[in-house]
Amino acid sequence: MSNLVIAVDGPAGAGKSTIAKLIASKLNIIYIDTGAMYRALTYKLINENIDLKDISKIIDVLKDTEIDFKNNHIYLDGKIVDDKIRTNDISNNVSIVARIKEVREKLVNIQRKISKNNDVIMDGRDIASHVLPDANLKFYINATPKERGKRRYEEIIKRDPSVSLSDIIQEVKVRDEIDSTREISPLIKTKDAIEIDTTDKSIEEVVQVLLDYIKDNIN
Ligand code: CDP
Ligand code: CDP
Repeated sequence: MSNLVIAVDGPAGAGKSTIAKLIASKLNIIYIDTGAMYRALTYKLINENIDLKDISKIIDVLKDTEIDFKNNHIYLDGKIVDDKIRTNDISNNVSIVARIKEVREKLVNIQRKISKNNDVIMDGRDIASHVLPDANLKFYINATPKERGKRRYEEIIKRDPSVSLSDIIQEVKVRDEIDSTREISPLIKTKDAIEIDTTDKSIEEVVQVLLDYIKDNIN
């Protein structure tokens, strides 16, 4: 019997990781957060004061970097960095790092290795188009930029009361623009993906929509 492989893509704040995590726990399969991998590398580069315009330096650091995602935790050089990678500074710089070819090659290899021989749900930007093109089911999760910015704002305001909603909406739009126009594996909705607009849906409603598709399409 072959593995169950579910790909989830979409722009920032669409609800991908929240939904994918819940589906993984309901179906007892592995969840892989690929965005966390790009964030972990960006965290290391910022922490080491690396100039993000210096691509050859980034590639040097990359060679000496170990990234893994297991049991719902992101590991950077053997240490869990779950909380450290969620800052606004990292959100605003990660797309710059994620467009580098060598970075993508290394992280995609890790993602494919983790998903090999396992039942998985993986979320990111290029999962259906590039990382797991043979996935059994592909979902493209979306919401309006305003709603996605609002969701991000509600998370960030708890840590940093100085942020403004309009700034966060703008930052989300800038990141989506870089992610969808980059040369290598940009964010796209593949023809075979099921698109779900989560703008006016609760998390529970979206999870149920996905579960229904999974039930109807996988035997
Ligand atoms: O959770 P959020 O939508 O804010 O972003 P994320 O999934 O943590 O991803 C952070 C960034 O990593 C994205 O904006 C992309 O630049 C990059 N990324 C990517 O290029 N390819 C992926 N498969 C996943 C993330
Ligand atoms: O992974 P992605 O960036 O696509 O989004 P997320 O981190 O899963 O979701 C962003 C925020 O929106 C989280 O705080 C979710 O609880 C919230 N959310 C929501 O309010 N309604 C939904 N239908 C989906 C997510």
